[in-house]
Amino acid sequence: MKRNWMLRVATVGLVSGLLIWTEAQGQAGTKAQSGDVARGKALFVRNCAGCHGPQGGGDGYRLLGPDPANLTSPSTTKKSDADLLKTIHDGKPNMPAWKVLLSEEQSRDVLVYVRTLAK
Ligand code: HEC
Repeated sequence: MKRNWMLRVATVGLVSGLLIWTEAQGQAGTKAQSGDVARGKALFVRNCAGCHGPQGGGDGYRLLGPDPANLTSPSTTKKSDADLLKTIHDGKPNMPAWKVLLSEEQSRDVLVYVRTLAK
């Protein structure tokens, strides 16, 4: 009977330990996914500001055809991360497809920085 009790305590301990561990792993995962603003800024200045402007206002150089999007306007900010990441990856008319140059993680860093411009 006593042994049974100890076994139960041990099991509870093990299970809650595992839960805490899984939780910690999950948080580490989201952190990596949520992107790094400082890295995103460096990438933005180098790759995006030419067209989208230093503050993302769409005031960089104009080509024939669609003008660079104003990344601080509601028409962009209301779009989901997934939508914007897709545009960054695949490009648009007058916008290069960045998946060739930027990793998944770098695209996310840039997007996190773009989101800060709108505030
Ligand atoms: C050669 C110019 C050019 C460069 C460089 C460029 N863009 Fe663009 N971008 C555009 C144009 C033009 C559009 C709008 C296309 C349209 O409306 O069809 C656009 C659209 C976008 C959109 C979509 C906005 C929306 O509301 O859907 C995002 C997000 C974006 N750009 C992010 C970036 C990021 C991030 C970079 C740098 C990694 C970048 N762009 C570099 C020209 C450029």
